[in-house]
Amino acid sequence: MFEIEAERPEHGPAIEALLDLSFGPGRYAKAAQRLREGNHPAPELCYVAFAGEGAERRMVGALSFWPILIGGKPGLMLGPLAVEPQLRGKGCGIKLMEKGLADAKRLGHRLVILVGDAPYYARVGFGPVPPGRLTMPGPVDPARLLYRELDIGAFTGVKGAIEKPRSAAAAR
Ligand SMILES: CC(C)(COP(=O)(O)OP(=O)(O)OC[C@H]1O[C@@H](n2cnc3c(N)ncnc32)[C@H](O)[C@@H]1OP(=O)(O)O)[C@@H](O)C(=O)NCCC(=O)NCCS
Repeated sequence: MFEIEAERPEHGPAIEALLDLSFGPGRYAKAAQRLREGNHPAPELCYVAFAGEGAERRMVGALSFWPILIGGKPGLMLGPLAVEPQLRGKGCGIKLMEKGLADAKRLGHRLVILVGDAPYYARVGFGPVPPGRLTMPGPVDPARLLYRELDIGAFTGVKGAIEKPRSAAAAR
């Protein structure tokens, strides 16, 4: 029902519209956004989902991953993830994440974090970061700060700040 494709520049306006619709005006106030400002998504880990046939075919979902430092070690932040409201609950979000996480692992990434609803992201292997272990660059409900190892043991001994990569921090 859904086809996942690599994001291309011409998808940009539709993605922005979907994110505005899904997250509303609070979109830019989130702590996760601090990690995106001046940063760039991993170009090989940006996806769009299409649904429909022929003239009905349209973009209905989007997901990107962002390079970050997790306790000084390279990692990824998953998100934003959004699916068109009429097509939610049909597996698009999970399909986007399964594709992205598999590609990220294949590319050698070892650790992924995100801020989101734990019961949903548990479906693709995320669990809660133990309280106090990692800090975000802004207030976050600790129960919503989640991680997933792509390589067993990648989270062992990791603690400290979640930050932008040094190159992105220097750019601002
Ligand atoms: C969250 C979102 C991406 C999920 O996409 P989706 O394509 O509807 O999700 P899927 O179809 O892959 O998964 C649906 C399943 O997850 C469950 N689910 C969806 N959101 C959930 C949540 N926040 N908490 C717990 N379970 C959730 C659904 O109940 C459904 O369960 P079922 O399979 O037992 O029926 C979509 O609802 C969305 O765009 N929401 C607005 C933006 C947003 O909140 N993004 C995530 C930021 S953390």
